[in-house]
Amino acid sequence: MSRINEHTRQLTPKPPVAPRPVDAISLDRGEQPYPPSPLVIEAIRQSAANSHKYPDPNGWELRQTIARYAGCRPENVVLGNGSDELIELVVKTHACAGDEIIVPVPSFFVYGFAAQMLNVRTTNVPRADDYSLAVDPVLAAIRGDSKVVYVANPNNPTGTLTSRESLVELLEGCECAVVVDECYFEFSQQTVADLIDRFANLIVLRSFSKGFGLAGLRIGYAITNEDTAEAMFRSANLFSTNRIAQAAALAALSDVEYTRTQISRILDGRRWLSRELTDRGVLVLPSETNFLFASMRSLEITSADVVAGLKLLGVYIADFGNKPGTDEFGVRIAVGSEAENTALVERLDRVIAESRHRPAVATES
Ligand SMILES: Cc1ncc(COP(=O)(O)O)c(C=O)c1O
Repeated sequence: MSRINEHTRQLTPKPPVAPRPVDAISLDRGEQPYPPSPLVIEAIRQSAANSHKYPDPNGWELRQTIARYAGCRPENVVLGNGSDELIELVVKTHACAGDEIIVPVPSFFVYGFAAQMLNVRTTNVPRADDYSLAVDPVLAAIRGDSKVVYVANPNNPTGTLTSRESLVELLEGCECAVVVDECYFEFSQQTVADLIDRFANLIVLRSFSKGFGLAGLRIGYAITNEDTAEAMFRSANLFSTNRIAQAAALAALSDVEYTRTQISRILDGRRWLSRELTDRGVLVLPSETNFLFASMRSLEITSADVVAGLKLLGVYIADFGNKPGTDEFGVRIAVGSEAENTALVERLDRVIAESRHRPAVATES
């Protein structure tokens, strides 16, 4: 007899994460290739000296600074242990066990994962063939027990944007909460955060992990109306964001210029990588993020084969083959440093050459 409850036993086990060689090139996790601003490192150092003190549970100074950055009031801001925690907090505060969330797919897997942890179902609604978001099928899927729609904008793994008009149509067309996940805002510069006073059902999520390069510190925030913000804060862990992460985020916002410079380097790398992949016959979607979504279909190499081939050569990219809303040819590649991008392309050529010596995979006509 297990002491672990039935629901927990039903959860999908987390896959084991094998250690990587020290010189591995990891382009599968969507991380920044560059370290954070020197001001951030200094803030971390100073804050570390006070590690024996609990952090401010309200995160008031950071919420005020975020409010100035995002153009809202501090009362609209909820801090989270990465936006992952906020994704879960939204399910927690809006759905009960047995309710459902709606996710246009392909999209970020954590929406479904957070729902599953809380015994909430996920209904996936396929995006259009070009991965754009068609609002009507999403609205048609919404029922009485649909509590939240999650739209990543730009989307992960496709990197593509949904227009402001479509998001407004979605917000106007449903009563349930609509999460617009702007994790990649610093890259896309597109936001609907200015609409929180117009739409009571709008929750915008942002992260310090991507543009600001603080993925290792786990800090993100939500922007929403005061009532929803208060409900989310009420359900959050008491000290969900730690002292060092709060200090680092504050320092990052005091040095936005540094982030802009790093982002422009990444955008240069994205343009270069996109061209190199396209020159090799790979279909690359237009990206508003720090990664590219590529289809290996025209080369007749499955994502599983290309991911495994690159891994043998020390390069890790993300396999999006046969995930909800994708076929067996999709991969996601983070834009790395110049040296990493060059190594990826050079090793991809070896994988492509190798695949020519193997029998071709069957493709749909
Ligand atoms: C769309 C999207 N939302 C949220 C997250 C999670 O970000 P964080 O590191 O802030 O938890 C990611 C991470 O890849 C993402 O792609």
